[in-house]
This record gives sequence, structure tokens and C-alpha cells, in this order.
Amino acid sequence: MRFKDKTALVIGGNSGIGLSTARGLSEEGAKVYITGRNPETLAAAEQEVPGLRAFQADMADIKSLQPVLDVIREETGRIDSLFVNAGIGTFIGVRDVTPEIWDQVHNVNLRGAFFTTQSALQLMGKGGSIVITGSIGSKLGMPGNVIYSSAKAGLRAMARILAVELVQEGIRVNVVSPGPIETPLINRNVGMDPAEVDGLRQQMISGVPMKRMGEPEEVARAALFLGSDDASFITGVDLYVDGGTLEL
Ligand SMILES: NC(=O)c1ccc[n+]([C@@H]2O[C@H](COP(=O)([O-])OP(=O)(O)OC[C@H]3O[C@@H](n4cnc5c(N)ncnc54)[C@H](OP(=O)(O)O)[C@@H]3O)[C@@H](O)[C@H]2O)c1
Repeated sequence: MRFKDKTALVIGGNSGIGLSTARGLSEEGAKVYITGRNPETLAAAEQEVPGLRAFQADMADIKSLQPVLDVIREETGRIDSLFVNAGIGTFIGVRDVTPEIWDQVHNVNLRGAFFTTQSALQLMGKGGSIVITGSIGSKLGMPGNVIYSSAKAGLRAMARILAVELVQEGIRVNVVSPGPIETPLINRNVGMDPAEVDGLRQQMISGVPMKRMGEPEEVARAALFLGSDDASFITGVDLYVDGGTLEL
């Protein structure tokens, strides 16, 4: 019960890693709020997770979070643990990248993540924790990954600056960076058909020393650790949950 009497907000909490994190937070006693875009999976999360409240808010639209924050302010008055997890994928070769698709991904994965965090800070203070979902893609030279990789590398840099500025206020900021994880994200990479997705999955598995995809729960457990007081002396780190991919 590491989150007993705590309030948690998961941005992108209606699918994959975020939903798994929201479940874990609830099981460990938190009052959990989530955001996402898809009304059906938002409603399903409310049904599944006792006490969870779900809101539609597009991370690319930086004003859309304020109504959610207003509800949290009224109901609990603060956010103890913020999980900035929403993200979209893309695989496009350098020569085919357009400004439109670049902006589509960066507006969510980097710009959206920053302004979401900035906005949520109005409800955060001493003892608070922010966990940002990065990716090992920020460090790998993977062909086709220029847009996503640069957004996630930007997130990692952003988290470092947030950590050093917010340490004065008693707020910790960390990144959890998954390797290949079996979630709906894999199947909805912007610009890929199902056969290409399967080829990508096999390619990713071959690069993992554990020779398998990870499960969303395996990332959620790391995020919950970083978001809890168990990680009270940890700030500014990037924790890889990748079956050994980056370090072995
Ligand atoms: N799966 C992997 O292999 C992998 C590897 C490295 C990093 N990651 C990162 O892990 C995070 C979670 O991804 P996942 O694998 O769990 O994929 P997922 O199942 O597709 O979940 C993505 C989540 O982000 C939300 N989201 C996407 N765009 C949004 C927007 N504009 N506004 C608000 N919410 C938005 C989605 O909500 P809707 O469904 O409502 O849009 C969903 O809840 C992402 O940041 C991703 O980049 C994943």
C-alpha cells in the first residue's frame, strides 16, 4: 500500500503501460485519475479499476488538461504522483519524413509532455514525484526511428532539467525507459501496415538479450517504484526496463 491516501494522475492511462500503472496505483491505495483520448477505453478503465476517474484530454492540446486539474483540486487538492506516459509511435525513413508527421509525433511525445508536466505542477509540492515514460529508442541507432527517437531523447533531457529545478521544491523527477513491450502501441505505429509491424516485432525481439517482448506490468512495476517513497533518494535517473538491451 505504497500509495495509501495519495493522489495519482496518469496521462495516457487507458491502454498498455499506463493502464497497467493505473491498476497498480489503485491496488496500492491511490486515488487514481487518468487521461486519454479514446472514450471507449477510458470508460472501460473506469469500469475495471475501482474508484478510478477517467477524463478525455488530448496531450497535444495543452489547455485540455486544465479541467481535469480543476476536478482534482476540488476532490483531493493535490497530486502526489504524476505519470506522464502518453505517447505515439512512428517508423519512417529520414528521406520520407514530412513536417506534418514530425509535428504530429513531437506535439504529443515532447511538447505535450512538457506542457502537461508544467501544468500539473500547480497541484504538486514537497514529497511529490513525476515519472516520465521515455524509451530506449532515445539511445539506439534504429533505422526509421528519427522522429520518435529525437522526441524521447528530448524527454530525457527535459526530465534532467525538471529534476534539477524541482529538487529545491522537494519534487523528484525520473524517467522509465521501456524496451519493446507488447502493447497496442506496436500495432498502431503511424505509417505502418500489419505485415511491417510483425517484421518490426521480430527485429526488436532479436535485439533483446532476453529474447522476448516485455509485458506492460513489467514497466508499470518500475514506474510504481520510482513514483513511490521507496525511491525517496532517487531523482534524475533513466531506468531501462528492456530485458538487457541497452547495457548487455
Ligand atoms: N510499447 C513499447 O514497446 C514502448 C517502448 C518504449 C516506450 N514506450 C512508451 O510507453 C508509453 C506508453 O505506450 P504503450 O506501449 O503503453 O502504448 P499504448 O497502449 O498505445 O498507450 C499509449 C497511451 O497514450 C495515450 N495517448 C496517446 N496519444 C495521446 C494524446 N495525444 N493525448 C492523450 N493521450 C494520448 C493513449 O490513449 P488513447 O488510446 O486514448 O489515444 C494510451 O493511453 C508511450 O510513451 C510509449 O512511447 C512504449
